[in-house]
Parts: sequence; C-alpha cells; structure tokens
Amino acid sequence: MKIAIANDHAATELKFVIMDYLKELGHEVVNFGTDDNESCHYPEYGEKVGRAVVAGEADCGVLICGTGVGISIAANKVAGVRAAVCSDTATARLVKEHNNANIIAFGARIVGTELAKDIVKAYLDARFLGGRHQMRIDMLHEIEKRNV
Ligand code: RB5
Repeated sequence: MKIAIANDHAATELKFVIMDYLKELGHEVVNFGTDDNESCHYPEYGEKVGRAVVAGEADCGVLICGTGVGISIAANKVAGVRAAVCSDTATARLVKEHNNANIIAFGARIVGTELAKDIVKAYLDARFLGGRHQMRIDMLHEIEKRNV
C-alpha cells in the first residue's frame, strides 16, 4: 500500500521509526514532514495527509503528534477523512473494521515505540466489515454536507 505520513515536532523520531517499519512491511511511504525538532503547527501536517488520502494520492495515512489528538482533529476537518486516534491495538483493529478509518493517529508522548508499531500493524492487518457499518459511515459524511 501507499501510506502518507506526517507529524509535528513532538513526534519526529517516532515518525522515522514508523516509516522504517512500514517499509520493512513492504509499503511505500510518502512523507509530508516535519523532519526536524523545530516547533511547528500540527494543523498543517494533519491537513496535508488528509488531503493526500482524500485525493487518492495515498491509500491511507498515519499521523503522529504529542497526543495524536490535535493532528487528527486537523485531518478530520478535510471532507472524506475518518482519522482515529488509537493508543491500543484493539482500537486500531476496530477503527478499520467498523469505522473504515482512512487515517490512524497516535501520540508520541502517549505510546512507546513498540506499541506504536503494533498499533500500525493491527490497523493495516484489519479489514473493513461493511454491512451496517457502511450505513453509519455514510451518515458521518452526510454531516459534512450539512456544514456547507
Ligand atoms: C505540541 O506541543 C502538542 O501540543 C502537539 O504535539 C499535540 O499533542 C497536540 O494535540
């Protein structure tokens, strides 16, 4: 798969670890930065990955900031994004199975390196279950249409 990834300054080291891990798993990775520890603004990076995923430039996305929250909120402002913050592997599996999350997020200040890898793997290994879950996802995107 082609996977878009981005982070803020709180998560640069973990981002590079996750990039290497994704490549080891055989995925193509598109890095949207930031690549250093200078203070930056997570909304910019969440939006970049959100737009790349919705445009079909990537199959899914990985976002990392201090908590995973700010950067996922930013991505979720892009219509068509379903970004989910996960701090455990069960949630990472379920956000694919039930919510068909197209972006997974987590916090570099919340999860350790090995758990972060396991979260990514659980998400990538899971499959969307469809059925009643699709109807609910359609309802989510109906909310976006009511916002304009
Ligand atoms: C940056 O200090 C921090 O606020 C950010 O990484 C993130 O945790 C916000 O949700």
